[in-house]
Amino acid sequence: MDKSEKIALGLSGFMLLIFFGGIMYAAIAEDIEVPTCITDMEPFATDTLFQTGPDTYELQMVARMWAFQPSEIRLPVGSTVDLYLTSQDIMHGFKIEDHNLNLMAIPGAINYMRVTFDKPGTFLFACHEFCGAAHHTMAGRVIIEERSESAETAGGV
Ligand code: CUA
Repeated sequence: MDKSEKIALGLSGFMLLIFFGGIMYAAIAEDIEVPTCITDMEPFATDTLFQTGPDTYELQMVARMWAFQPSEIRLPVGSTVDLYLTSQDIMHGFKIEDHNLNLMAIPGAINYMRVTFDKPGTFLFACHEFCGAAHHTMAGRVIIEERSESAETAGGV
């Protein structure tokens, strides 16, 4: 083998390690997940939010020109949400401020990600895929509320 070939091979191996390390870093240290396309569920036309456990919720969210349904979500701090997203018309994007969640809303398909809200506040979400004349109005918010003492007592019994 020529010396230049050995150098090229060595460099390629080194770069593969760097890229693989980058992916592992994102997955483990930064906790970045890849959205999942759900294939065993029919795309839904209406939005639903329901509780599935003490701190867990399932949210089925619908995007359409030019709004998200629901456009306002109110949950207690510490909630983990299994978020299913679909679109009723064309492609939209969905991103929640300050949270590690970024999905596409695709007509006829459902995308899924899990998100945990571990600090109180109001977090905007918006469509990030240009979808027409009123794209810029396609937004909403998640309001994460402090748990009140009475609610904690009620939940703790
Ligand atoms: Cu929907 Cu931009």
